[in-house]
Amino acid sequence: MTKTNYIKIEGRVSVSAPSNIAIVKYWGKKDIQIPENPSISFSLNNAITQTSIQYKRIPLQDIFSYDFAFENKTNKAFEKKLVTFFNRIENKLPWLKSFYLNIQSSNTFPHSSGIASSASSYAALAIALAEIHTQITGEKLSMPIISEMARLGSGSACRSVYGAWNTWGETPIINGSSNKYAQPLKTKTHPNFQNIHDSILLVSKKEKSVSSTVGHQLMENHPYKEGRIRQAHANMKLITEAIEQGNWTSFTEITELEALSLHGLMMSSTPSYCLLEPNSLAIINKIRDFRLETNIDLCFTIDAGPNIHVLYPESNKKQVQEFIDGDLRKFCSDNTVIHDYIGLGPKIN
Ligand code: PMV
Repeated sequence: MTKTNYIKIEGRVSVSAPSNIAIVKYWGKKDIQIPENPSISFSLNNAITQTSIQYKRIPLQDIFSYDFAFENKTNKAFEKKLVTFFNRIENKLPWLKSFYLNIQSSNTFPHSSGIASSASSYAALAIALAEIHTQITGEKLSMPIISEMARLGSGSACRSVYGAWNTWGETPIINGSSNKYAQPLKTKTHPNFQNIHDSILLVSKKEKSVSSTVGHQLMENHPYKEGRIRQAHANMKLITEAIEQGNWTSFTEITELEALSLHGLMMSSTPSYCLLEPNSLAIINKIRDFRLETNIDLCFTIDAGPNIHVLYPESNKKQVQEFIDGDLRKFCSDNTVIHDYIGLGPKIN
């Protein structure tokens, strides 16, 4: 396409995209966000980034022309990251330097809520830019390309361009799996896992002391790197089987092992660090005791931070939320718990 025949030269798109929570964790990468191991996650329903982009054709520039505001405030740190992001995706969006973009973004969840905002932010941006691409060129980009663009912003974002359960990373157990993009889980999801809940217990609202970027880097020379990669492959197989069969016992075993392995890897890297807090451990032990006493299906997972995600099926919602209110909420910063559940994925408004 020459620069004179765009179908549309100005307009506005609005997109919402969810955060996601990984069960088998992506930890360690090669450039640029090529994962060392496969991962699986589900998208959340309430933890959403809303992004709207107003676009207008301008004479071709040498640089990207855009403004960015997060919750109506300019954000210099993210503006700089956007240049890197645009450079990485420009080959898919050749018009990027011929349009001015006014990007406005906001989250439905509070900052430092323990919910990864980079996943929902880059997924929303990738989908919005793909929609602009369609509006101005008439060409529709495929979901793998959109997921790949999101990955070039932040690895886990590639799983947030879809709803429900998604996998990312090459694994012999999934045909067509790729390190470049995520895809919806290919095997069937048993009803037990179709409406899974995630209540996020905010042990701390502080900024984490070591970023995921640094954590991924520390996997490069990690003494347990090969073992970790083998473990993640084995866990992918077990978890997809558990999700297909509706097996909460096996799901629990793998999910908690993955969460604690992630933190074990942090504690055994050089330099070593620990993101868990005393209250994280208190909650973990309470969850395990409660499960033993009641036989109720619930388990925990943990992202790269101290907050604990309590996972349970819809059928146990009442009992688990009563348990959280009675026994766990007191371990949370300002008693804060965010109830969420599996969601349908991004929307173009
Ligand atoms: O996408 P990043 O670089 O923020 O890394 C995410 C890493 C974990 O959240 C710990 C695991 C995952 O698979 O989402």
